[in-house]
Amino acid sequence: MKPRVFSGIRPSGRLHIGNYFGAIKSWLKLQDEADCIFAVVDYHGLTTPFDPKEMFKEKYEVILDYLAVGVDPKKSALVIQSDLPEHTELGWILGTITPVSILERVPTFKEKVAQHPEYVNLGLLSYPVLMAADILIYKSNIVPVGEDQLPHIELAREIAKRFNRIFGKTFPLPKAVLSSGARVMSLYDPSKKMSKTGGEGILLSDSPEEIWKKLQPAVTDPARKRISDSGNPDVCNIYSLHKLVSSADEIKEINGNCRGAKFGCLDCKKILAKNLGMEFEDFRRKRKVFESNPEKVKEILKNGAEKARELAQKTLREVRKKTGLDI
Ligand code: TYM
Repeated sequence: MKPRVFSGIRPSGRLHIGNYFGAIKSWLKLQDEADCIFAVVDYHGLTTPFDPKEMFKEKYEVILDYLAVGVDPKKSALVIQSDLPEHTELGWILGTITPVSILERVPTFKEKVAQHPEYVNLGLLSYPVLMAADILIYKSNIVPVGEDQLPHIELAREIAKRFNRIFGKTFPLPKAVLSSGARVMSLYDPSKKMSKTGGEGILLSDSPEEIWKKLQPAVTDPARKRISDSGNPDVCNIYSLHKLVSSADEIKEINGNCRGAKFGCLDCKKILAKNLGMEFEDFRRKRKVFESNPEKVKEILKNGAEKARELAQKTLREVRKKTGLDI
């Protein structure tokens, strides 16, 4: 039997290169060797401030991005989480065996509380429990994600272990898979991860001109003040991005030119802008094709939900029996 893979992204706008290098690149590889389900996790999207008028559009944007980037509906099931309320039913049951004290210690919970002190809701606290349900309802073995999600996957394993111990072996213990770009940092504050907020994330759908505009003010080696100073690529976020898209020869040359003060940071950024633009050229073309075919996208989601529902309901039947809800 092929291993089962699950992963998801919140519907908070178009995808950026952090989502791509952190998670989706591994999805594309895994879909050839495993049985994959990829979701837009819209229930999770309700836990932080959002605009109900934009929600549907945001979900759709992510689905278009998935398809254009190469998630192949013939190989993988593409789903919208709330089309499968089985996730929330399992989430409720798993919530009853998860200590609140563990949830209060989850780093992303603390971050969100600091970010939106006026928006601390029960859904936010139980966010990782629903995430565990997303993974466990399909008895997933592998969860390809960026580094920031590791505490959540660890918690999903703990919840699975706890359920197996109390009610009998039911769930495999899921493993996180990280890619080489598991932590893409912000262009303007490289101490933070790149995110969708503040318009600083490079989107997969950005035109080469937009990419160039975002890259120009990006932070490089802070100690390098002028071209004649020798730079240190090891502390430069732009150099880290080069490692994701540029060829081995280019990377070597960039390293030498930076250390030897042979070119400036803008020259280095120009090469990165060109390579990022090229990396997503095909994506931008394919996205237009899917944008103009909403019926096709609807059908893909319907098929994805059907396949996922069958698996989810099977697990839920087993869980309801084991917990005594059903006989
Ligand atoms: P989300 O929507 O924040 O991010 C989606 C995926 O993109 C990765 N990612 C990054 N990777 C590297 N560098 C970055 N700067 C960067 N920014 C985002 C994330 O690690 C993630 O893999 N809780 C999840 C969604 C979720 C989920 C799940 C994931 C809900 N249920 C079940 C896996 C399995 C989240 O908020 O991802």
